[in-house]
Amino acid sequence: MTSTTAKAATTLIEQELVLARGRALNNRLAKAALSEALADDQGRVTDKLVRIWQRWSEDSGCGLLITGNVMVDGDYVAEPGNVVVVPGRDDEGLRRWAAAAKAGGNQVWMQLNHPGRQGNALASRTRPIAPSAIAGNFPGAMRPRAMSEAEISATIWSFAQAAATARDAGFDGVEIHAAHGYLISQFLSPLSNQRDDHWGGTLDNRMRFALAVVSAIRAAVGDDFPVGIKLNSADFQRGGFDEDESMLVAAALVGAGIDLIEVSGGTYANPVMVGASASTQAREAYFQRYAERLRTVTGDVPLMLTGGFRTIEAMEGALADDACDLVGLGRTLCVTPSAGALLLSGQSPEQPVGSHELGLRPLIGLVADVRQLDGMLDVQWHTDQIHRMAAGRNPDPHRPWYLALATALRRNGLGALTRRRR
Ligand SMILES: Cc1cc2nc3c(=O)[nH]c(=O)nc-3n(C[C@H](O)[C@H](O)[C@H](O)COP(=O)(O)O)c2cc1C
Repeated sequence: MTSTTAKAATTLIEQELVLARGRALNNRLAKAALSEALADDQGRVTDKLVRIWQRWSEDSGCGLLITGNVMVDGDYVAEPGNVVVVPGRDDEGLRRWAAAAKAGGNQVWMQLNHPGRQGNALASRTRPIAPSAIAGNFPGAMRPRAMSEAEISATIWSFAQAAATARDAGFDGVEIHAAHGYLISQFLSPLSNQRDDHWGGTLDNRMRFALAVVSAIRAAVGDDFPVGIKLNSADFQRGGFDEDESMLVAAALVGAGIDLIEVSGGTYANPVMVGASASTQAREAYFQRYAERLRTVTGDVPLMLTGGFRTIEAMEGALADDACDLVGLGRTLCVTPSAGALLLSGQSPEQPVGSHELGLRPLIGLVADVRQLDGMLDVQWHTDQIHRMAAGRNPDPHRPWYLALATALRRNGLGALTRRRR
């Protein structure tokens, strides 16, 4: 028998992945975007943001880390505490963030987003803008204003400027957020995009905005900088963006030179991305069947599959079935920031204790959509854990779920619960 000094990979998650544009990732685990809500009131980087990122970089073990969504236009913000990229304004802060986020030898990509009609009333300075003046069906939704042609061009430009700023600050790539009902996903959906110009109507028209963002970013960052995208398998709403359309969009993105597609699904109207029901949560790998279909049209472009992964068996299974090249981890890294390192050494990360599902469901159902509230509470509870770590403490898997409700009300007012605002 011959011996070798290089340790042979014994699991699939520990294999290296060589991306197009020459950058290799240490392994197949990726931290998915988790909105940190830790910027100052101008959307600038803070010490707390740098601290949580240093911890994820040094402890998580993941080869690729993706930041929480960063806003490309300070007038439209998804939630209080989002970082806003304004070229030339906070270069030092962004550099500090990128350096801390790579301290552990991983790569870090910045996720770029515009909330569209999911803009937060308390954090944004203006009425939300969207493809069409149609309010969403989710807690706190406001009726947006339809974007003008000039606003569409300016928004595409702001994605490109933000990507160039991220590159200059030391981020290794960017991911465009085209999922979860935010602006790009609003353009894709026939429910939220009812424009009668060349940005709406047919699928070719509805995907024009996403493709324009990709090509503007590519022109701004050059040929050797990775650009990925997070795409919904479907919105899971009747008459909305569905799997067949998503496959066609993915094929067009491949044609446009995208370097990575992350698969997710759902919106805040139907938050399947966080497996709003206990039965979905038990299933793991929520979008694996779709990812397997997607493979047939995406060729060599790597796929990242995010949503529901908890056990090493499910992760190895998804890689072995060739459903994806990268396994995305979100909430697990809020509760166990070293989750990837543990998984790579064959151990299981700790999971939350108890259920986020609200009590008094029939009563709450009279005034609000219980599934939406469950999803919102689940996200808020995990945000609370991020904020504990940012303050230098450890996560608390036993944290009572009702405290997440208290934080949501403090941060967003009663609008966090009510069905719709005008
Ligand atoms: C606290 C929190 C914040 C999130 N923020 C973002 C975000 O900024 N951008 C994004 O694409 N997804 C975001 N997500 C969704 C996650 O990236 C991921 O798709 C989802 O949590 C499912 O993966 P998981 O089962 O591993 O948690 C967030 C989820 C949580 C819980």
